[in-house]
Amino acid sequence: GCQGTTAVRGRLVWFRDDPFLTSSDEALVYVDDGLLVCHDGKIVAAGDHGRLVRDLPPGVTVESYRDKLILPGLVGSHAHYVQVRIIAEYGEELLDWLRDYVYPEERRFADASYARPIAALFCDELLRNGTTTAMVHCATSPQSVDALFEESVGRGMRLVAGKVLMDRKAPSDVLDSSPEQAYEESRKLIERWHGVGRSVYAVTPRFAYTCSSEMLRVAGALWREHPGTLLQTHLAENRWEVAKVAELFPPPRYRDYVDVYEKHGLLGPGAVFAHAVHLRKREWERLHHTGSGVSHCPTSNLFLGSGLFRMKRAARRSRRVPVGLGSDVAGGTSLSLLQTASEAYKVGALRGYPMDGVKLFYLATVGSATAMRLDHLVGSLEPGHEADFVVLDPAATPQLDARTADVDSVNDLLFSLAVMGDDRAVLATYLAGRLAHRRDACPGPLPV
Ligand code: GUN
Ligand code: ZN
Repeated sequence: GCQGTTAVRGRLVWFRDDPFLTSSDEALVYVDDGLLVCHDGKIVAAGDHGRLVRDLPPGVTVESYRDKLILPGLVGSHAHYVQVRIIAEYGEELLDWLRDYVYPEERRFADASYARPIAALFCDELLRNGTTTAMVHCATSPQSVDALFEESVGRGMRLVAGKVLMDRKAPSDVLDSSPEQAYEESRKLIERWHGVGRSVYAVTPRFAYTCSSEMLRVAGALWREHPGTLLQTHLAENRWEVAKVAELFPPPRYRDYVDVYEKHGLLGPGAVFAHAVHLRKREWERLHHTGSGVSHCPTSNLFLGSGLFRMKRAARRSRRVPVGLGSDVAGGTSLSLLQTASEAYKVGALRGYPMDGVKLFYLATVGSATAMRLDHLVGSLEPGHEADFVVLDPAATPQLDARTADVDSVNDLLFSLAVMGDDRAVLATYLAGRLAHRRDACPGPLPV
């Protein structure tokens, strides 16, 4: 964490409540001339500059971002770092796309010297896009996990990642040789990385289609035996996938896709299911009752033609399921959670459920953090949270400047930033109170 105390001044934005259950006005916290004070990597105060500046210890320099927005670092709840080089491969749906593009690329991560620079690029790109925490699939090889955590620990990021588990329906060079070996390799990786720096290990069965029943049981055992680890996988992304899973895990023993995971002990708080596009009522209810989370990956669901996520079903008051945003690169086409939020808005519009600026940024911060059960640590500027935050520039481009110069409300400003923004809107990214990325590459503090 940062030594001593650091402070930044700007327009503070965070969320104190769930805007899908209350109202956006009630959920939003906004301090027009705010001060954020960090000590040893944590937020110790967030509020009015005039009030807080008097209590600053002597010698603390305030970095000033007067007309900029300071938000919690963005939190992505689903991505594949091993796929950054295959974004934008033309023309196929999920299962063919995996066969033709994904597996040939992921096999290359058996080579640590191939993995390391891509892991470095991925971490740098996250920070350039204002993402301070992400939940990430690696490849089958343990080296792919080492490479990512080496880079994320070096940068001080709270990153969640794990080795992909799969033992069927893919080329043998990307499969685990057995569930037993996959268990051993995962156990060693958990011991090597979980809790090192800010790293969190996620047990990562790829999806039910490429996992035998034994492999899914191994995933459940690893997750249970290592408290504090998370679990991530894919769920009901594509109609063909759903049909194949029903053939492999047929009814009546398995009632549906969610039941396959539940019968193997994979539902519960800290489990995050990517996509969840094609779910039935019973499945939403099981996700709710078990405290499982979902990652909404709109750029991917559109790019791969998977379908239109139903946020309204996830947000139903009687059975709220925590939902975050995921880039799902490389099914997804952008690492920017602003661009992801923009597509989430459009998918919502097509489903008759448009979301305002507060809801979109909530999904990209607290939403993801809550799905991952890390909301006590990240996703908020509330004192006690880790001091990961992002500085957004509403005038980053001529068009943004023209659009946002006279917006009526913070909610509208956030909406414009989500729909029009991308990495250019990210002026600076801070990890544990320290500058980790600055767009204009001018590292010194600005004059107050
Ligand atoms: N389902 C199983 N593996 C994958 C993957 O790598 N990407 C996406 N989008 N879906 C998957
Ligand atoms: Zn994915």
